[in-house]
Amino acid sequence: MISLNIEKTLGFISKENVFAYEAQVKAAQEALENGTGKGNDFLGWLHLPSSITKEHLADLKATAQTLRDNCEVVVVAGIGGSYLGARAVIEALSNSFTWLQDKKTAPVILYAGHNIGEDYLYELTEYLKDKKFGVINISKSGTTTETALAFRLLKKQCEDQRGKDMAKKVIVAITDAKKGAARVTADKEGYKSFIIPDNVGGRFSVLTPVGLLPIAIAGFDIEKLVAGAVAMEKACGKDVPFAENPAAIYAATRNELYKNGKKIEILVNYNPKLHYVSEWWKQLYGESEGKENKGIFPAAVDFSTDLHSMGQWIQEGERTIYETVISVEKTQYSLQVPSDEANLDGLNFLAGKHVDEVNKMAELGTQLAHVDGGVPNMRIVIPALNEESIGGLLYFFEIACGISGYILGVNPFNQPGVEAYKKNMFALLNKPGYEEESKAIQARL
Ligand code: PA5
Repeated sequence: MISLNIEKTLGFISKENVFAYEAQVKAAQEALENGTGKGNDFLGWLHLPSSITKEHLADLKATAQTLRDNCEVVVVAGIGGSYLGARAVIEALSNSFTWLQDKKTAPVILYAGHNIGEDYLYELTEYLKDKKFGVINISKSGTTTETALAFRLLKKQCEDQRGKDMAKKVIVAITDAKKGAARVTADKEGYKSFIIPDNVGGRFSVLTPVGLLPIAIAGFDIEKLVAGAVAMEKACGKDVPFAENPAAIYAATRNELYKNGKKIEILVNYNPKLHYVSEWWKQLYGESEGKENKGIFPAAVDFSTDLHSMGQWIQEGERTIYETVISVEKTQYSLQVPSDEANLDGLNFLAGKHVDEVNKMAELGTQLAHVDGGVPNMRIVIPALNEESIGGLLYFFEIACGISGYILGVNPFNQPGVEAYKKNMFALLNKPGYEEESKAIQARL
């Protein structure tokens, strides 16, 4: 089970003021539970973990097995909420060098549709040329340009390379039940497809097939992942007393820090495998809270790597930041520092210690230094990098985000701001239907 410690924020804000949010948190929880708050048509994620059935998981696992049996590589095509959750979990649980290993136990998972880099797509299609590959086309709207463009290329290549019949077997769509081009294509081509529920927004969709299918293909236990989320759904439920509910305390603390001028939250990890959990978290909080000219800016660093780059700024830059550290209690493997008779590097004082003991002292030393430097510090501890912990962590951040967004007074479940760039891009590309916008934008250039 994950735990949260806010002790090191208390020199900057008071415990009394954090606990003063109890009524607001309660109101937010009631609004989420009763569907009476803003964006209440997007609350399908709230009790999603506990409503996932064994049959649904079995269907996902069977499809995963088909791709595992027939593919060396599976490309996950998606962007934003249709991509980050799967990548966050897969990278957190994978061996760091898995795709360089000769003997693979699962298909290599690659990603596309999350950028429009010509070189990226060229290099990907080149790499795939001699590979037995499959594709998961993930898009709730089914019309996202980045994803659709990548899928058009990959679909053609898969059909050309593997034949239409095999392509049908190894291309899967995850999209809306009825609308969008991805649905039309899936139905017409006869692809296996999964539905993204109407009431689950992209950034809250990791525990739908959007995340679960790629995670199962990569070889991870989706039952355990969901079980971890179910445990957290209970631990962060609305009837859990405020002081014992980590999501309530996290939401209250970050709002109190924001009120006190701490406008930037930096999510910190000491394990490179958590890099994409931070990317997922940035999207979750950025898209949910950054609106109406308010919202904490979500940033992230990987320590100790970034202590040698961003460490200076964090220690001595503008004092508008606080840190939330994800600390992993136990490593998966054991590696001790060897003793060396010559001791030329002077490291014998570490001989016999586990590498993680050194990492933990870097973590503790950094926390003390940053608090001394004026940076409030929260700590989330997870037992290990395994399916249960990661499932719990994802749900913890989701429920805390819903509560926090309601405390801030915004609709945490929409993203009106992401439309502006799309409108301009379509106008600049003369997309049919954008004739007026095209004229207007040309006049501005
Ligand atoms: O969280 C969100 O809603 C967004 O990040 C979407 O997931 C992203 O824009 C992709 O949209 P779609 O799944 O419709 O292609």
